[in-house]
Amino acid sequence: MILGAQWGDEGKGKIVDLLSEHFPVSVRYQGGSNAGHTVIVKDRKFVLHLLPTGILHADVVGVIAQGMVLDLEVLDSEIESLREKGVEVKDRLLISDRTHLVLPYHKLLDRLFEKKGSIGTTLRGIGPAYMFKHGRRGIRVSDLEDGELFKEKLRDNLSFAKEICEKVYRESFELNADSIYEKSMRIYEKIRHAITDVSRYLMDRAEGILFEGAQGTLLDIDMGTYPFVTSSNSSALGLSNGTGLSPKFFKNSYFLGVAKAYTTRVGEGPFPTELEGEEGDNLRELGGEFGSTTGRPRRCGWLDLVALKYSVEVNGFDGLIMTKLDVLDGFEEVKVCVAYDIDGEKTTSFPASLDRLSRAKPVYEVLKGWKDSTKSLKSKERLPKGALDFIRFVEDYTSREVVMLSTGPKRDEYAWLTEIPLKISSSFT
Ligand code: IMP
Repeated sequence: MILGAQWGDEGKGKIVDLLSEHFPVSVRYQGGSNAGHTVIVKDRKFVLHLLPTGILHADVVGVIAQGMVLDLEVLDSEIESLREKGVEVKDRLLISDRTHLVLPYHKLLDRLFEKKGSIGTTLRGIGPAYMFKHGRRGIRVSDLEDGELFKEKLRDNLSFAKEICEKVYRESFELNADSIYEKSMRIYEKIRHAITDVSRYLMDRAEGILFEGAQGTLLDIDMGTYPFVTSSNSSALGLSNGTGLSPKFFKNSYFLGVAKAYTTRVGEGPFPTELEGEEGDNLRELGGEFGSTTGRPRRCGWLDLVALKYSVEVNGFDGLIMTKLDVLDGFEEVKVCVAYDIDGEKTTSFPASLDRLSRAKPVYEVLKGWKDSTKSLKSKERLPKGALDFIRFVEDYTSREVVMLSTGPKRDEYAWLTEIPLKISSSFT
């Protein structure tokens, strides 16, 4: 299980790609095309939004499980663009028949909702698609089987969306059922062979499955910085409902949290260690911190250990993978946030109240920089002492081992610090 331990963009795509060779099945189970998982293989860059990253390996089966929200047009163009790069996924993709669809009116509503009270969403229709799901008017992949029923549901949804658009937002509504229907059915014909009961498929395998979380724990709808979150459970909490598997299924799984050596966030919402001005710009430039889905500049700041420890606890991580340590290579000193000062009181707990979190001032521990390169490093023996001290500090604070370092964007740029079990079985027994 690979999960984002911060606000997303931790570099999970590369890690999943790396570990996929040990796992014949790679599963995405929440979120949708708001994700952007970047992988660089032999100087070729792949950015996957919907397909599980593991699918880049020719013998891996990729699974889109029921907790995702699926934009058929994005899926179609993603499959096509992989094909152009020589990666054929046709017979290695499974899509849950219970997955809800993201349709054009969800994207329209996302844009309208952003006009009033901005969250800074990716505008991919994610929030509205989950709203329709939980409001019990969503359309699922299985509804595509019966064209007439699909059209009927589509019409009903469109008239609902039209009312919101015209009456609440006073905007014109141009979408029509026929064109959405035709486009959807055209894509459905191309993918219908892949649609199945994914939960059953996973249940029968019970081992060699890699689960790929999208976004990050602090964007989780329940555990994150609500309401500045995404609309799914992007922490480990989403595993069971996202896959349709009992929590017991995961009891022997190994949970890995991916965290950057500093912190970033895109979109609005509190961010206690955010660096404003030149310092923030510097970190953004050094880390190339621009969104892979929207191209938006990411907000940057020092590593927030209060938030990371919270994330460790929420997910029950067995170990951590640290990415982008090399971005801090040139610094004289490196700061880590070890507590929050909220209204003059020091705390190490991550508050549920957004109001309190917005008033949290970071209390920093200043560590000596290492002024030496960790870029492309492949073994822990060559780690500069300062970098090792930094890692040990993180481990002590979170009580979790950093088992691997990612030392660059390419597939082979990593170093194991500790062996972890890569063959893991799950079972109900
Ligand atoms: P939505 O998921 O598009 O509704 O956006 C809700 C919030 O989650 C916004 O702050 C987005 O910037 C953020 N978000 C969504 N997906 C990602 C991601 O993959 N990485 C980082 N932030 C994300």
